[in-house]
Amino acid sequence: MPIIPVNEPLIGEREIEYVSECLRTGWISSAGRFIEEFELKWAAYCGMKYGIAMSSGTTALQAAVGCLGLRPGDKVIMPTFTIISCAQAIIYNGGIPVLVDSDPRTWCMDVAQVRAKVEAEMKKGDGKLKAIMPVHIYGHPVDMDPILELAREYNLKIIEDAAEVHGAEYLSGRNSATPRWKRCGGLGHISVFSFYANKLITTGEGGMVLTDDPAYAEKARSLRNLCFLPHRRFYHTELGYNFRLTNLQAAVGLAQVERMEEIIARKRWMGQAYTERLCDLSQIILPVEEAWAKNVYWMYGLVLTDDLQYDATELAQRLRAESIDTRPFFIGMHEQPVLRQRDLFAGEQYPVAERIARRGLYLPSGLALTEAQVETVCQAMHKVLEGSP
Ligand SMILES: Cc1ncc(COP(=O)(O)O)c(C=O)c1O
Repeated sequence: MPIIPVNEPLIGEREIEYVSECLRTGWISSAGRFIEEFELKWAAYCGMKYGIAMSSGTTALQAAVGCLGLRPGDKVIMPTFTIISCAQAIIYNGGIPVLVDSDPRTWCMDVAQVRAKVEAEMKKGDGKLKAIMPVHIYGHPVDMDPILELAREYNLKIIEDAAEVHGAEYLSGRNSATPRWKRCGGLGHISVFSFYANKLITTGEGGMVLTDDPAYAEKARSLRNLCFLPHRRFYHTELGYNFRLTNLQAAVGLAQVERMEEIIARKRWMGQAYTERLCDLSQIILPVEEAWAKNVYWMYGLVLTDDLQYDATELAQRLRAESIDTRPFFIGMHEQPVLRQRDLFAGEQYPVAERIARRGLYLPSGLALTEAQVETVCQAMHKVLEGSP
């Protein structure tokens, strides 16, 4: 039986048409109409003024943190349960990541712990804490209101990592007289997207920084392109990077932005289809959708309950034997040897992240997934789990 892959992108005729235009006209580097349109349209879709396309989500994070101008030893609060790109962006910019555990329901950062960490840092009175980096996980938004309140209270910057939540929505101000649905990536001071091949919008490899602040936008643009001075090329007062996205890649991305509603509908259908077919299995905890959130199910994750005698590695092997591909959950930053070697997070424990790292995996979730494939995956899940000790 052919393997059902964890991700298969859905590339349409419009992508081919736009890429062909780049090739025919010779606009193949990082200048061209598709870059500009992609930046404008994606920023507008997320409710931000400026979009600065980058070569990946990882480089977008590095440029976004670069915009803050951290001084050595400045601190940024982030979840332990995320990809290493988040921690790297802080470290490469001279900062120190300060971790919080995950919420056991959404797997996103626990906002009560964020407040506790902010208050503990503020008590030190050293002025080192500069920012919070909420990371929306697997398609579900972080509960942003309490984080934005902390930012206002303590004058902190918010770098929103929206790499996994294209089109997800958050009910902002749910306890106020005027609650309003807002798109993720439009909630912080700076936000970041990835357009890697498994994302809802893909350019193969790619990313973007979004902001409403013209100074951050200018800084991100400068960092992206070697910090060339606008009026004196090849003369530099700062160090930058080559984080440029190509017009060819932006052409692919733009074609997808144009059918965003359809992409979200497919993902939400997939989430619902899995939940309907798996909710009777008592050995697994399924993704949630809080009342204040619209989940886009970037990846359909699940966590094995503590009653089940084996872990996610074993489940992955059993599913693989049924020709179903899966991926394990993130391993927390506090468990990363490369970070521990830098004397970070010594003795720190985050029990929720530790548990889901060992007991979580995600099922095939690509945009090309068919109903028949969802059915096959769910039958395999029943076969593997029913009767398991
Ligand atoms: C939350 C998060 N941030 C950043 C990234 C990095 O994106 P990229 O793979 O485009 O470098 C990823 C990648 O999946 C991610 O999941």
